[in-house]
Parts: sequence; C-alpha cells; structure tokens
Amino acid sequence: MSNPSNSLTRVDALVIGAGAAGLFYAARAGEAGLRVLVVDHAAKPAEKVRISGGGRCNFTNIHTRPEAFLSQNPHFARSALARFTPEDFTARLARHGIGWHEKTLGQLFCDGRSAAIIDMLVGELHASGGEMRLETRVGAIARSADGFLVETSGGKIEAGRLIVASGGLSIPKMGATGLAYDIARQFGHEVVTPRPALVPFVFEGREKEDFASISGVACPVRAGFDGASFDEAMLFTHRGLSGPAILQISSYWREGGEVRLDLLAGQNAAEALIAFKAESPRKSLLSALETLLPNRLVALLAARGDLPAFERMADMSHASIHALCKALSDWGVLPAGTEGWRTAEVTLGGIDTAALSSRTMESRLVPGLYFIGECVDVTGWLGGYNFQWAWASAHAAALG
Ligand code: FDA
Repeated sequence: MSNPSNSLTRVDALVIGAGAAGLFYAARAGEAGLRVLVVDHAAKPAEKVRISGGGRCNFTNIHTRPEAFLSQNPHFARSALARFTPEDFTARLARHGIGWHEKTLGQLFCDGRSAAIIDMLVGELHASGGEMRLETRVGAIARSADGFLVETSGGKIEAGRLIVASGGLSIPKMGATGLAYDIARQFGHEVVTPRPALVPFVFEGREKEDFASISGVACPVRAGFDGASFDEAMLFTHRGLSGPAILQISSYWREGGEVRLDLLAGQNAAEALIAFKAESPRKSLLSALETLLPNRLVALLAARGDLPAFERMADMSHASIHALCKALSDWGVLPAGTEGWRTAEVTLGGIDTAALSSRTMESRLVPGLYFIGECVDVTGWLGGYNFQWAWASAHAAALG
C-alpha cells in the first residue's frame, strides 16, 4: 500500500476517520483478514479519546443498555450492543495491561492517561496489518466496478468496502465535519437533523444575571424534560447551567421548552424543615434552607422572590413548608439555547438508521457502504455510553 500522490491504492476496506470507531473497526477487520486503510484529515488519531474523561477516557459504562441511547429507532442499537459488551472491552484492556476503575454510576475510566487507549487502538491496527494515513483530505467518492473509488490528497483509493467513521459535528475546532452526512446523502440516505447534545444551557436577561451571580455553585438536582429525568449534579455558570444533570437533559430538550429542576432531589425536605422548626423555631427560613441547599443558592432564591417572606420558622405552618418544598422540587427554567457545537460532547441525530442494517451497519441502499460511530443516529447518555457505541458499532460492521 504505497502512497505516491497520483498512485492508485487498492484495499479491501477504506475507513474514513481515525477516531474511536474507525480504529476499532480497522483492527477487527484486519484480524478477520481484510487489507484495511484508515484515512483522517487530522494530524493525530483519536483526539477525542485523548481529551475525553478529563484525559482519562471514560471508555464505557457497565450499565450499557439500549434505553441509554437516543435514536429515532430506539431498537436499532440493541443488536450491536448485545454482541459487544463493556466486559468485552475491559477484557481487551486487560490483554494490553491497561488498568481501569469505576468512578460513579457505572462509568469506567483508565487509571492512567487516555493515550494508553489510543496506543492500543493504533497498535492493534498495525498488528493486524492495517495502514493509517493522517493529514489526508477526502475528495470525490464514486462507485467503481469493485466497490468505491475515493479521491484523496494522497492519491486515489479503490476499496471493496467504504466505512464512514468520521463522527458528528461536535467541537469543530477539533476537526469535526459533516462529511459523513454528505456521503450519506450522496448515496440516497436520509439524515436526521444533527443537534448539539450533552451541552450546557445558556440563558438571557434576568436568569442569565442571576445564574452568573452564583457561578461555580453546584448542587445535586433532578433535571427533567418531556418525561426524561436525571439525578446528578448541576453547576451554575457565567452563561447559565451546566453539570452532568444538565448535559444529560440537554439531549432531550427542545427550543422553547422549560426544564424542570427538583432542587431538593433525594432529600426528605419537608420532614427536615419541620424538624428544624421544632428544634429552632426562632431561626429564619433561610438558615433552615441552608441545611438543604448551598448558601449562595438560598440567597439567590430569596433575592429572586422565590421564597416566602417568613422571618422565623415558628411563623411557618406545615402547609407553607409543604408548599415551599413543592415549589423548590419543580423549579422551571427556560433556557435561551445551548452553547452549541463549540462545547457539545456529542451529536444527536445523524444518519437515519432506517436504511442501515442493525446487524452489520451496512447500507441497505448501497452494498459495501457502512456507517459506524457517532455519525449514525444513535446517541448515548453521558458516562461512557458513546464510546461503547463506537466500539460496538465498529465490531458489528467488522464481524457482522
Ligand atoms: P470521532 O469524532 O472520535 O472520530 C472521527 C474522526 O474522523 C476524527 O479523527 C476526525 O478527525 C475525522 N474526520 C472528521 N471529518 C473528516 C473529514 N472531512 N476528512 C477526514 N477525516 C475526518 N464519550 C464517552 O463515551 N466518554 C467520554 O468520556 C467522552 N468524553 C468526551 C469529551 C469531549 C470533550 C467530547 C467532545 C466528546 C466526548 N465523548 C465521550 C464523546 C466521544 O468522544 C464520541 O462519541 C466518540 O469519539 C465518537 O467516535 P467516532 O469514532 O464516531 O468519532
């Protein structure tokens, strides 16, 4: 597989995208006996693996199940996820001597740097006889007698199979492009409108000022929208709201909709306030609430007029305590939007699964054309689910 500029390279499988899905596919297909070439326009492979999980790559989640993925066809991911599990991935890490640990909620992270995973992916690619060409731009793609003819800045490549693994639109600064969607449309596939997901909310006007005034404050909440809800931490920021609970619910949110926040999630707040009143009747409602919520948030709620004006807990009836807890358990906020592609961790939507085989990820319209990883309309929750989809969809495409 030499690479002079005007040459024609022939391979069994050409993979576009040296990210998590593309590299994992390449090694599995190489091990299965295919001659594989991976091309990527970036200077380094798998940059998102490198920066993920704060540099320690949250590479899977032991609670992986189809319900943790959003798609227009919620059943599509089922087959691939069942055939390549988190245990399959950790067994592979063990063979490479890569240590890992569980943080919270089933999220598995490397003990060391995420570079260990990149080294494993690239090492397995080379060990299986595959080749990788970086800084290679992809041009026109056409059908040929034997499959596909792809023009690149490194010459023409003819391949029996074309595996599109060029990801979604999140973080353009890291080289994300809509190439996968362009290829899909070229070959007659529908694309479910891509949207930024796992992304902080921004606010305008009074709410923006209020939230900015307590930027840095975090508290556990239940964030809900349209029947979905997540119990995790929320963080106030200079522009609005972030933190895991907010990133999770952002994948379900639609413009113009109010997000419901239970600020007292997981606490028996009414009982706690009633007990506080019995013990310290002369103390204020604010001091009582400070036992349940961060002080700066309590002060903000008071300044916003979200709290009743009782001087002393003694003056507060049980009915008013229950009413207050109800209000704080269902605090509606109206985001003006999200931070968008600049910071979104993933892309919701993507290549419509209706015309893809759920067993092999192969196009039902064009034999030999495959889509894997984030470019497909399968989007995982926060916490390692998106890498698990990258591994599982790649495995399905390579091994059917
Ligand atoms: P990915 O984006 O990884 O790879 C696509 C490749 O295609 C890239 O190398 C790119 O350069 C290349 N490409 C794009 N356009 C091209 C073009 N026109 N020509 C040639 N090449 C092109 N998930 C998770 O499960 N756990 C985690 O901890 C995190 N953390 C995280 C942090 C941050 C900051 C981000 C942005 C994302 C995450 N994610 C995550 C999500 C995870 O990174 C993502 O779902 C996977 O990387 C998707 O893998 P893919 O291989 O499909 O695409």
